[in-house]
Amino acid sequence: VSVSFVPSRVRRGRRAASGATVALSLLLLAACGGGSLSEGGGGSENEGPVKIGLSVPISGVYASLGEDMTQGFELYLEQNDGQLGGRDIEVVKADEGESPQTGVPATTKLVTQNQVSAVVGIVNSATALGLKDTFVQSEVPLVIANAGADELTDDASPYIWRTSFTNGQVGAALGAAVAEELGDKEVYLMAADYAAGHESTDGFRETFTAAGGKIAGETFTPFGTTSDWQPFLSKVRASKAGAVYVFYAGAEAVNFVKQYDSFGLGQNAQLYGAGFLTEGGVLDAQGDAATGVKTSLHYSHLLDTERNKEFVEAYQAAYDEVPTVYAVQAYDAAAALDAALEGAESTDGAGVAEALADVGEIDSPRGTWSFDEDHNPDQPYYLREVQETDGGLANAVVQELEQ
Ligand code: BEZ
Repeated sequence: VSVSFVPSRVRRGRRAASGATVALSLLLLAACGGGSLSEGGGGSENEGPVKIGLSVPISGVYASLGEDMTQGFELYLEQNDGQLGGRDIEVVKADEGESPQTGVPATTKLVTQNQVSAVVGIVNSATALGLKDTFVQSEVPLVIANAGADELTDDASPYIWRTSFTNGQVGAALGAAVAEELGDKEVYLMAADYAAGHESTDGFRETFTAAGGKIAGETFTPFGTTSDWQPFLSKVRASKAGAVYVFYAGAEAVNFVKQYDSFGLGQNAQLYGAGFLTEGGVLDAQGDAATGVKTSLHYSHLLDTERNKEFVEAYQAAYDEVPTVYAVQAYDAAAALDAALEGAESTDGAGVAEALADVGEIDSPRGTWSFDEDHNPDQPYYLREVQETDGGLANAVVQELEQ
């Protein structure tokens, strides 16, 4: 089950786009049957629309991230008359859900049953890790537009590309700056207990301790099921840490930041994190509790460049809200496929994968970037601080971080 891209859907705003997404996914899930890897390989026709899968969470703790990614991807299509590389695009959607249990089968069906030429999306690192072999064996490219697990790209498979980040990089970008800011104070590490949380804190720990910083302790909280952080915050208080570094995103980030504030830790221990902690709708929901939180990320909608301002304006016109890093990563995945399809000798999975190797520079709202040798974006990271701005609470860009 798939739909040809309908550009006008973008203009109906956030609620309408979300409703369409849910309906499409339900249709897709209801219609999907079995399928084996040998049925993969992607559509091989060089005429007619090219099928691209879009697999992001529509349900679970990362649902808001998935909505932003859908919006970013659809905005790019809207701006390009529903085409990539001059070819009409048929978008086939799947609900990644919260975990590999939902995300792996739903995304696999895009390859085995829907015979897409490439898949864009995947928020959760554990889900992406569970899918990697499927894409490599099927010879269909997966353009990861969020999940940051380092291992996904460590062998530079021709079928795995990433327009987002690696979790280790985002954490590592912040370490030296925090060490300098804190002097003798120790940092407590806390994160969701799965690949992303561990890699993010590992990356931070490495550069923070290399710059002379000291770790007061660490705790990993059950992913997707933690709703009460008080017992974990008590450990932070007992450690007498002068600051805390965390990895949380989506609904977990909302609850954590609110509870950190109401527990009163903020007065003694500056909160730092990977930028997902205060990104987009999450920050709206956290409100004043997030004021002063400092994070690292490769995007803020406040980046002061012409390209970004033009993008923010178009995004606001389409969805009546400012764009997030998730929207940009999916927008850029569409841009990468646009360039790839332009030069592809065939539109089957192997043809698209081969062409992805030659896309060159992506003219992105985050700044121009290109894929590095591991197929990750070569890009700068910024120190951001949640501040009151003319547009309300936002992640102000404090400085570019040294890497
Ligand atoms: C991850 O699982 O890699 C991830 C999820 C949400 C935000 C950032 C990273």
